[in-house]
Amino acid sequence: MSDRVLGVVMSGVTGRMGYRQHLVRSVLAINEQGGVALSDGSRVRLRPVLVGRTLGKLADIAARHGVADYTTDLDAALADPANEIYFDAQVTQARVPATLKAIARGKHVYTEKPTAETVADAVRLAEAAREAGVKNGVVQDKLFLPGLLKLKRLVDGGFFGRILSVRGEFGYWVFEGDWQPAQRPSWNYRAKDGGGIVLDMFPHWAYVLENLFGRVESVYAHVSTHITERWDESGKPYEATADDAAYGVFELEGGIVAQINSSWAVRVNRDELVEFQVDGTHGSAVAGLRECRIQHRAGTPRPVWNPDLPVTESFRDQWQRVPDNTDFDNGFKIQWEMFVRHVLEDAPFPYSFASGARGVRIAELGLRSHAEGRRLQVESL
Ligand SMILES: NC(=O)c1ccc[n+]([C@@H]2O[C@H](COP(=O)([O-])OP(=O)(O)OC[C@H]3O[C@@H](n4cnc5c(N)ncnc54)[C@H](O)[C@@H]3O)[C@@H](O)[C@H]2O)c1
Repeated sequence: MSDRVLGVVMSGVTGRMGYRQHLVRSVLAINEQGGVALSDGSRVRLRPVLVGRTLGKLADIAARHGVADYTTDLDAALADPANEIYFDAQVTQARVPATLKAIARGKHVYTEKPTAETVADAVRLAEAAREAGVKNGVVQDKLFLPGLLKLKRLVDGGFFGRILSVRGEFGYWVFEGDWQPAQRPSWNYRAKDGGGIVLDMFPHWAYVLENLFGRVESVYAHVSTHITERWDESGKPYEATADDAAYGVFELEGGIVAQINSSWAVRVNRDELVEFQVDGTHGSAVAGLRECRIQHRAGTPRPVWNPDLPVTESFRDQWQRVPDNTDFDNGFKIQWEMFVRHVLEDAPFPYSFASGARGVRIAELGLRSHAEGRRLQVESL
C-alpha cells in the first residue's frame, strides 16, 4: 500500500505540552513507528510544520528533530492545501483566534484544552467548526492514563455495585520561583493571562467524570489564591492573581457525589500526583496515573473507632493491585492516531469541540459558584 503524508500545522511547539507530548511523544513518535495505520492497511505519515513567534526557537527544535518546515507566518502555513490539520497548544488565550483562522481555511482542527477561556468562545469555536464541516477535537489525555483505564475497566465490569462517591485529590507544590525555580509557566498564575487552576483542571475533571461515571448535574466550588507573590521565568517578582487551589463538589447523574481538590499549593502525601477514590456498595478503588488498587466488599475489614488504642491494622495493605493485563501506550499519541483516522476515514472521535465546551462550562460554573457562594446547576449547552 502506498504511504500518504499529511501536513500538520503545529502552534505552540516551543511550550511544555506542544514540544514534549505533542511533537516528540506523538507526531514524531508516530512517524518513527511508520505512521498511523488505517483500516485499509495503508499508513499515513505526518509532516509537521512548526509555527511560532520566534524563528530561532523553531529552528532549534527543527534542527534537533530533523523537521524540515517551520515558520512564523501562520497564514502562509494555513494557505498550503497539503496542510490539512491545524493543531494548537499555545497559551489558552491565543487559541481561539488562531483556531478560527484555521477553520476559515477549511482545516481540520485539534487543540489542547481548554478550547477557550469562556463558554461563549468555546461554543463559538464548536459552531464555527460544525458550520465549516471540519473535523474537530480536543485533548482529553487523562482518559488514557493506565490508572484511569483500569478504573474504567472496573466500572464497565460492574465491580463497584452502585457507585456512591468519587474523591479526587490532585496537586503538588509549585515553587514560588524565588529560591527554587517554579516548575510551571508563570502565565498560569496571572488571571489576565488566562491562568488559574479552575480553568486548567476543571475541564479535565468534567470529561473524566462524564466518561467514567455520568453527567455532571451541579457544581459547587471554593476557590483560593493561596500564594499571592511569585517569581517569573526571568526571576522578576509578580503578583499571582489567578486561583491556585479549588475545592469542588460535583453532583453526577444517579446521585453520585464527586469531590475533587485541585491545588498547586499542597505537598504530596499520596502515591501519585492525582488519585481518585471511588466507593461503591460492592467495592472500592483508588486509581492514580498508573496504578489502581481495589478492596472488594468481601475483603473489607471492620475497623472500630477507638482513639484510646493505637492503630494495629495497616489499612493500605488491605488493598489489592489491579494488574496491567496490557501494554499502555502514551495517551497523547493514541488520541493523535484516533484524530488522524477520524479525519481520513471518519473513524469515531468523541472528544469534539462540543465536549471541550462542556469542560469550559464546568470551569466557568466553578468560578461563578465561588463568586456567588452557591451551588449551580449545569444546563445543557
Ligand atoms: N493536557 C494537559 O494535561 C495539559 C497540561 C498542561 C497544559 N495544557 C494546556 O496546554 C496549553 C499550553 O500550556 P503549556 O503548559 O505548554 O504552556 P507553555 O507556556 O509551556 O507554552 C505555551 C506556548 O504558547 C506560546 N505562547 C506564549 N504566549 C503566547 C502568546 N501571547 N501568543 C501566542 N503564543 C504564545 C509559547 O511560545 C509556547 O509555545 C494551555 O492551553 C494549557 O491549558 C494541557
